Amino acid sequence: MPSYLITGVSRGIGYEFLRQYSSDANNIVVGLVRNKDATNKKLSEDPDLKGRSNIHIIAADVTDYAALQNAVSATAKITGGSLDYIIANAGLISQFDQYDPIGDLGAQPDQITKEMRDLFDVNVIGNVHLFNLFVPLIQKGQAKKVIAITSGYSDVETTRTWDMLLAPLYSTSKAALNMVIAKFSAQFKKDGILFLGLAPGIVDVGYDDKATPEQLQKVAAVFGEFLSKYAPDFKGPSTPEQSVALMRPVIANASIENGNAGDFISQFGNKQWL
Ligand SMILES: NC(=O)c1ccc[n+]([C@@H]2O[C@H](COP(=O)([O-])OP(=O)(O)OC[C@H]3O[C@@H](n4cnc5c(N)ncnc54)[C@H](OP(=O)(O)O)[C@@H]3O)[C@@H](O)[C@H]2O)c1
Repeated sequence: MPSYLITGVSRGIGYEFLRQYSSDANNIVVGLVRNKDATNKKLSEDPDLKGRSNIHIIAADVTDYAALQNAVSATAKITGGSLDYIIANAGLISQFDQYDPIGDLGAQPDQITKEMRDLFDVNVIGNVHLFNLFVPLIQKGQAKKVIAITSGYSDVETTRTWDMLLAPLYSTSKAALNMVIAKFSAQFKKDGILFLGLAPGIVDVGYDDKATPEQLQKVAAVFGEFLSKYAPDFKGPSTPEQSVALMRPVIANASIENGNAGDFISQFGNKQWL
């Protein structure tokens, strides 16, 4: 039975990964969350997911190394000691920098320092520990795939070409995650383990509902012209359901043999981010 560890399944894209992978009763799906009781309650109230015996929720904050160590033994007990896939989806999306260029944030240096440390703790360091701790289970698995959910924002070429100036701190943390993926791949490709960064597109998980009209205007100003040239067919943010439905075949088809080791690709399986 293929086994999946998915981090950050409490909501958003992670919850949808949980939903779609667990729809196949042959899959064992382990979801990692910070608040286990809240997620179990949510699952028990979800008409689709309640009663799915192939879903297992375990608790860990990815910034808590001891909790991640416990998550390895808890996962091994559930799966019988191996793991086929990691979907490292948990991530911090800082609201501080979503709508502003880096130079405009310079007037708040203490806040920059705090936000960047928080972003690196979750998006970078948490995943380094997660991968190191779970590699022994992946080595015993069949599929041997470690997928990190990153962001098109972290693509240097797109940033350069289109002067994509929003979310500078978040983008930097995800660019660091892409390098983490490349470095793990450089070491473990020879063992047949695929490490791959995967961007989900722009997915509506409710953040824009919290944005001020002024912030939304900033997004429209940047994205309006960019989208008309870069992705004229873009129809707006996708739902988590649509995004995960696009990413699953990309994950299934990605392989070391296909040249994906250590790479960073989109929900379309290429470098087209939207
Ligand atoms: N939505 C988009 O348009 C978009 C675009 C590009 C990339 N992404 C990436 O997609 C992934 C999922 O994001 P989302 O859009 O679904 O956002 P979301 O709704 O904010 O979900 C984030 C998830 O990460 C978990 N998480 C955050 N910090 C954590 C920590 N320290 N330890 C464990 N879990 C933690 C959250 O758990 P709690 O409920 O406990 O907070 C939540 O389950 C992220 O990596 C994000 O960067 C999203």
